[in-house]
Amino acid sequence: MPKETFYITTPIYYPSGNPHLGHSYCTVATDAMARYKRLKGCDVMFLTGTDEHGQKIELNAAKENLNPKEYVDNLVSRFRKLWDIMDISNDRYIRTTDEFHKKAVQKIFRDLYDKGEIYKGNYEGWYCTPCESFWTETQLVDGKCPDCGREVKLTKEEAYFFKLSKYADDLLKLYAENPEFLEPESRRNEMISFIKSGLNDLCVSRTSFSWGIPVDFDKKHVVYVWLDALTNYITALGYGSCDNSDFQKYWPANVHFVGKEIIRFHAIIWPAILMALDLPLPHKIYGHGWLLFGDGTKMSKSKGNVVDPQILCDRYGVDAIKYFLLREIPFGSDSIFTNEALINRINSDLANDLGNLVSRTGAMVEKYFDGKLPETLQKDDMDNDLISMAISLRDKYESYMEKFQFSNALSEVFKLVSKANKYIDETMPWALSRDPQKTNRLACVLYNLCESLRIISILITPFMPNTAPVIQQQIGATRDAVTWDSANKWGLLPRDAQIKKGAVLFPRIDVQKELDELNECIK
Ligand code: ME8
Repeated sequence: MPKETFYITTPIYYPSGNPHLGHSYCTVATDAMARYKRLKGCDVMFLTGTDEHGQKIELNAAKENLNPKEYVDNLVSRFRKLWDIMDISNDRYIRTTDEFHKKAVQKIFRDLYDKGEIYKGNYEGWYCTPCESFWTETQLVDGKCPDCGREVKLTKEEAYFFKLSKYADDLLKLYAENPEFLEPESRRNEMISFIKSGLNDLCVSRTSFSWGIPVDFDKKHVVYVWLDALTNYITALGYGSCDNSDFQKYWPANVHFVGKEIIRFHAIIWPAILMALDLPLPHKIYGHGWLLFGDGTKMSKSKGNVVDPQILCDRYGVDAIKYFLLREIPFGSDSIFTNEALINRINSDLANDLGNLVSRTGAMVEKYFDGKLPETLQKDDMDNDLISMAISLRDKYESYMEKFQFSNALSEVFKLVSKANKYIDETMPWALSRDPQKTNRLACVLYNLCESLRIISILITPFMPNTAPVIQQQIGATRDAVTWDSANKWGLLPRDAQIKKGAVLFPRIDVQKELDELNECIK
């Protein structure tokens, strides 16, 4: 039977500055979801990339005396390097400057024009360069861009328009019939009122700058950067090229993860374009929240208050950063980022709870049994709670993961970590070790701890892909004992497993010293 497919995407980021922790946040979430689906046996396509055209990039490049392509090449290599460092498991990386993408966008534009979905007209409006958006007079707030609050420029140009307005009813119907199309729900209500307040046709070409994909039948126009960008989700699969087998296989996407500020583009313009092309719509758009700084502002390149993910990964390890981002911040909500919260979370959950459990367990099996448990295990009723919690964990975890509630999924896993630590205190292996009559009981306690770690290690794989195999190696788990199917079963760790104590997984951090050093790096 062919495997179930799962197609997931991040936004394609603007290479107009260094990647920051906000970009990492969405990419890490997408990575966790992709790894989770692979663990479950799906055929996953995980796409990320960069959105490289537009006036903002053209202007930034000019400031640095570079041509736009040189400018983006340099920044794109920093994004790609960061994803390497962060062990991001994307299957594909699209650059909107890729030749195949440019050709496919030209074809899409032409098809829409031939179908009468795009027409030529005149545009007069207020343009916000950083947002690459046109606004009407009435949409401005205090004469400024309603999205970012920056200066706008009066612009008049001959332009092509996409007949967005005619899709208003279809879009409302889409939301009514498929409430799961846009989540979380609060975002859906915003979009419904936006559509009800009236949709204008969308200006989809520009003549005021040249860094874009030329309209191939009217070369003085370049394609509007959002039309260029949104279509990446299908061109990356070969749509509009001679080999569209991946498009046939993976489209429609299961989910597009996007930040809440770009939901409008994904939940209104994107489905309308697909409707105009007679293509199926993605199953879901999920608008995640923002990482904010202490003063409540969004972390962003243009505000200059960026936290460098590479510095954090170097200091604490990639897995710790990934864990923090997805455990601390509920995916649909905004959350304030502080270095202190990061360090406290690493210390409490990773060093104290998980790290300690792993090292105590390995150390005890080495100390009492030289790394190999005896055949006979003596059970006790007091084991039942731990065992039943462990084997029921996978289903709870799954239901949270399917709803992208990463923080809840991890919190369930860490309940088992705490429970196992408590089980050590209750069973007191050190006391059992002093009584030769209790050797088999001691062996059973240690086996149960290793089994709990086996299940924990499977379920943290999507979040901490480097830590999970280290734990599995320490408890001597075989490959077939660390599959998704084995995560709700007890007793799969081979009885003759060689168990050992390894290096400390997450060293404890001295909070004050570290905060001082970090503040220095960020300045
Ligand atoms: O909007 N907190 O690119 P972009 C959380 N090119 N997530 C954040 C964040 C923060 N402080 N800052 C950025 C674009 N992000 C377009 C997208 S898609 C067809 C085109 C994440 O470089 C979040 O996912 O501004 C957000 O939507 C994305 O980066 C925007 O990246």
